[in-house]
Amino acid sequence: ADEHAPSTDLITLTRHVLNDQLRLGSAATGDLTLLLTAIQVTSKFIATNVRKARLINLIGLAGETNVQGEEQKKLDVLSNDIMINALRASGKTAVLVSEELDDAIIIEERNRGKYCVVFDPLDGSSNIDAGVNIGTIFGVYKIQPGSSGSLSDVLRPGSEMVAAGYTMYGSSANLVLSTGSGVNGYTLDASLGEFILTHPDIQIPPRGKIYSFNEGNSMYFHPPVTAYLKSIKYPAAPKTPYSARYIGSMVADVHRTLLYGGIFGYPDDKKSKSGKLRLLYEAFPMAFLTEQAGGIATTGTKRILDIVPESIHERCPVFLGSRDDVSDLIKFYKELS
Ligand code: AHG
Ligand code: MN
Ligand code: MN
Ligand code: MN
Repeated sequence: ADEHAPSTDLITLTRHVLNDQLRLGSAATGDLTLLLTAIQVTSKFIATNVRKARLINLIGLAGETNVQGEEQKKLDVLSNDIMINALRASGKTAVLVSEELDDAIIIEERNRGKYCVVFDPLDGSSNIDAGVNIGTIFGVYKIQPGSSGSLSDVLRPGSEMVAAGYTMYGSSANLVLSTGSGVNGYTLDASLGEFILTHPDIQIPPRGKIYSFNEGNSMYFHPPVTAYLKSIKYPAAPKTPYSARYIGSMVADVHRTLLYGGIFGYPDDKKSKSGKLRLLYEAFPMAFLTEQAGGIATTGTKRILDIVPESIHERCPVFLGSRDDVSDLIKFYKELS
């Protein structure tokens, strides 16, 4: 056989998710597949706009401030609108929570479905103007039995999510997804307009050689974090020090961590009591993916997916990545806090 002949049997995201659903038998109605189809369309649409941004002057500030007091970029607002419109129109959602909207959206009855989607429409805004990788993060809950969609359907631990994922907009668009049975990565084939399975069954290496923290915050870090970072930068021989990699887009930093291993961290510190990353639409989806890929996601003292959110925009400390690396960090928390 000609090993360079193109494959004529591509596994698209839709095909793969559908197979998963079919394996579940009669319990599956196909609604989740349709919802995930809507989400992948938003990723294609946002990917197109990220590319166009460089040409049609979307770059720059939109002139508004969001609920967290951050300046919203035009691409934040555009990506948010794309997600809201597509998710509402899918007919499969009941509650939507976005980083860019103060309040949750409860979908009106005629468009209402069974799922709740929490999302960060555009992650890594500070990197937009430099053309560095950015992304979209999402998590999916199913409404509770008897509910027609309310805030309590999303104020639930991350372990109750039925799906989570992200799309990274880089040299290509990569969608990484888990529906609770492992993690798969898909790459957008722009000529086909389809996400193709390129990274089946992603497993985080049990130990890595990379740490990913914003060390510019070092003077505010608490003792366990400071001591842990010192241990990987000044290890006792024959160990060698870890490499530092920090992009500043959670999507890109977590993507690398899933593939190469190591540890990503955004701690709470003396300045930020709960850290920076948002629980519902940043920490939970990434923790879900990390655990599904065989890694660990912790606040330093507890499993992230066990946290019960009290409000939709609350923050939490995040450490995630390779099992052995994150376990090492947890030891420092046990000793020093
Ligand atoms: P967003 O662009 O969605 O507001 O998220 C920014 C987050 C996340 O992507 C990243 O990990 C972190 O902010 C970086 O923060 P620092 O600039 O403080 O390192
Ligand atoms: Mn933001
Ligand atoms: Mn973000
Ligand atoms: Mn964002």
